[in-house]
Amino acid sequence: MNILVTGGAGYIGSHTCVALLEAGHTVIVADNLCNSKAETIDKIKQITNKEITFYQIDVTNEKALDTIFSDNLIDGIIHFAGLKAVGESVEKPLEYYYNNLVSTMVLSKACRKYGVKNFVFSSSATVYGDNTVPFVETIKLMPTTNPYGETKAMSERILTDIAKANPDWAVVLLRYFNPVGAHECGLIGEAPNGTPNNLMPYITKVAKGELKKLRIFGNDYPTVDGTGVRDYIHVMDLAEGHVAALNNLTEGVHIYNLGTGQGTSVLQLVKAFEEANAIEVPYEVVERRPGDIAACYADTSKASIELQCVAKRDLLAMCRDAWRFEKESLGRKDEN
Ligand code: NAD
Ligand code: WQD
Repeated sequence: MNILVTGGAGYIGSHTCVALLEAGHTVIVADNLCNSKAETIDKIKQITNKEITFYQIDVTNEKALDTIFSDNLIDGIIHFAGLKAVGESVEKPLEYYYNNLVSTMVLSKACRKYGVKNFVFSSSATVYGDNTVPFVETIKLMPTTNPYGETKAMSERILTDIAKANPDWAVVLLRYFNPVGAHECGLIGEAPNGTPNNLMPYITKVAKGELKKLRIFGNDYPTVDGTGVRDYIHVMDLAEGHVAALNNLTEGVHIYNLGTGQGTSVLQLVKAFEEANAIEVPYEVVERRPGDIAACYADTSKASIELQCVAKRDLLAMCRDAWRFEKESLGRKDEN
């Protein structure tokens, strides 16, 4: 298939481009590079030895999308482009609502105009809120506590309504759990701007000595060791989940969790990282982070049964690959 990947220069998008190209699809990337770099496109080509068509455009721009859709025969779209920092979304709600909702709507309009009926959307486990684990796709969603989460719930709703009104559309809503790690070649990975907010990129900076110690946000949760539990999934497993979704497109709206189904605590992840890489990660326990929940992990049965999609890479591989990318790519001044 000829797939338009919005946000394809970003963390999950770039890994998905690799998986798509390796599965034989053709890829067109649309990204405004607001949180990524053009070099990533070259690295995807280097990894796969395949070509990519790249448009540096804002996907809220209808005219720019017209150019892409009229220049290319697109079979389907995977919409990754969006702003994703939970804390920033509280400071800048308008930017988040505008970017994340308008992009979804303008892309849907372009799909309708050009007869593209396959739409895969990057949603998030954040839409489940503080529910009972494991999260199954059918549970009632809880209101999220931040504008970012709201944009995901609202985009899901918009796409669901569009699919209802257009029964020949295939809309896939993929709810990602916590993607970590990097492509095993070490060329692409997660490169957040400034001090990382998320756990794994913070750990790699501490391991490298760029940050002094990890602050563990609370050890009094009702979990295995008191620290927060999450479902970490290797970004290449997540990427391959998109290929599986494309292989199983059927009309209607289909929602899938993409996780491993395994809960891992903060302390367990720190220990796994130390073991995988034979390096120490100093930490201290501090207050809980506002808005955090105790535990979040997926019920993965639906993706495994309907998409035959099961995460293959374990926690040690996630830790090893995250560290390799940090050392080999982020450490090099010419690259970042
Ligand atoms: P990312 O920031 O690395 O990638 C997003 C990409 O979209 C970036 O390259 C950015 O430049 C681009 N972009 C943003 N707004 C754009 C616009 N208006 N026009 C064109 N390009 C635009 O983020 P990511 O971690 O790869 O996340 C990808 C998607 O998955 C996002 O929608 C995010 O909300 C969702 N998601 C991410 C996580 C996670 O933990 N990383 C979890 C659940 C869901
Ligand atoms: C994981 C665990 C923290 C940093 C976020 C978004 C979610 C989704 C994925 C987009 C928690 C603890 C963290 C640190 C710590 N993104 N932690 N010290 O909060 O599960 O999910 O990213 O959709 O929407 O909310 O991920 O990596 O920030 O935290 O102790 O310095 O690590 O308390 O238990 P989170 P995270």
